[in-house]
Amino acid sequence: MKLIGPFKQLIPMTGLSIKGPLSDDDILVMEDVGILIEGTRIKSIGKFNELKIAYCKVEVHELKGDHIGLPGIIDAHTHICFGGSRAADYAMRNAGKTYLEIAKAGGGIWDTVTQTRKSSQDQLIKTTMKRAHRHLKNGTTTIEVKSGYGLSVVEELKMLRAIQKANDQTPADLISTCLAAHMFPKDFEGSPEDYLELISSTLFPILKEEHLTNRIDAFVEESAFSEQQIAPYLKKAKAMGFDITVHADQFSTNGSKVAVDVGAISADHLEASTQTEINLLAQSDIISTALPGASLGLGCNFTPARKILDAGGALAIASDHNPGSAPMGDLLTQAAILGSFEKLSNAEVLAGITFRAAAALNLQDRGQLKEGLLADVLLFHSSDYREILYHQGSFKPCVVYKNGEKVYDKHQ
Ligand code: NIG
Ligand code: FE
Repeated sequence: MKLIGPFKQLIPMTGLSIKGPLSDDDILVMEDVGILIEGTRIKSIGKFNELKIAYCKVEVHELKGDHIGLPGIIDAHTHICFGGSRAADYAMRNAGKTYLEIAKAGGGIWDTVTQTRKSSQDQLIKTTMKRAHRHLKNGTTTIEVKSGYGLSVVEELKMLRAIQKANDQTPADLISTCLAAHMFPKDFEGSPEDYLELISSTLFPILKEEHLTNRIDAFVEESAFSEQQIAPYLKKAKAMGFDITVHADQFSTNGSKVAVDVGAISADHLEASTQTEINLLAQSDIISTALPGASLGLGCNFTPARKILDAGGALAIASDHNPGSAPMGDLLTQAAILGSFEKLSNAEVLAGITFRAAAALNLQDRGQLKEGLLADVLLFHSSDYREILYHQGSFKPCVVYKNGEKVYDKHQ
């Protein structure tokens, strides 16, 4: 067992509702407390001095100076397993080239598919771990990682096995998702329906057999798959016991309706959602995930986060870290910026990257600091928790604990 403390302020993110607006007055701020950890989990949270006396034999990580404690950040949407770079796309886009012109010049998702197919499984493991490690140092202790740059049974398996192996070798938890329905592969001989049928009948059973993932994602968009094409695919996945998530309403609406119809866990993007889609999402149990990194990367409008919350929806915020639309990969920065543009409270932004993000991944064991949950804890050198978002992401944690172990210490 170990005891960490005393925290000047501990923000456990408990007692807050999963849906709807949150005010900073609702945030529980615990002062001068310690966290007692047994193995990977939190055993108790209480006044540091009392815990120190009650558990006098445990290892004590005594904090010098003022520290804030926060649950580990959860990034519920990334594509960090990929080969190559799309710096050329980014430059062309900023020089005013259109999506079509970029695709014609060999850019777009298909370029990353080509580069990823050329990469060996070992190369993918290495680059995924490198990116995961950077995120972990910045406080992200759980990282969802999608496939979707393989786009054939063999290549999707290579990606998902690489993610699984990277997960075995990094202290961060990598939660994999199969995104074989990212776009219709240019080299597939047959119709989009044939492709989806092949994936669901051939790949899905292997995913189960090898425990490669329990999540299926699809990109519903004019440039990818239509509502009609994707609904049967996702229903089949759901019937096989997979959790469903959807890339929805990024440029045009429809995706959120499919997500609600199939009973998805989350609908992500939503930049194009109108009040109709917002209400539909808010009336369901779906988590709406905003991806400000994609808005920043593409120079597009943000997801209407304020409207989603005001309609009573549940808002998570994720980085979408990918080589095309969201190359930055800095969730704290992006969440803070979204908060400033969309007028979100500290409580709403922090909820979006902690317990509401955990719900987007259907994980009940993290996202808050309380007895029985994983001891994923971030320490920030400050006496006021509001400093964290105030610095718009430039203020990073000084210490990161994952599963009760110290995995990063700025001073070491
Ligand atoms: O979430 N929207 C589709 N897919 C990714 C972009 C992936 C890429 O451009 O490589 C996204 O933004
Ligand atoms: Fe994405």
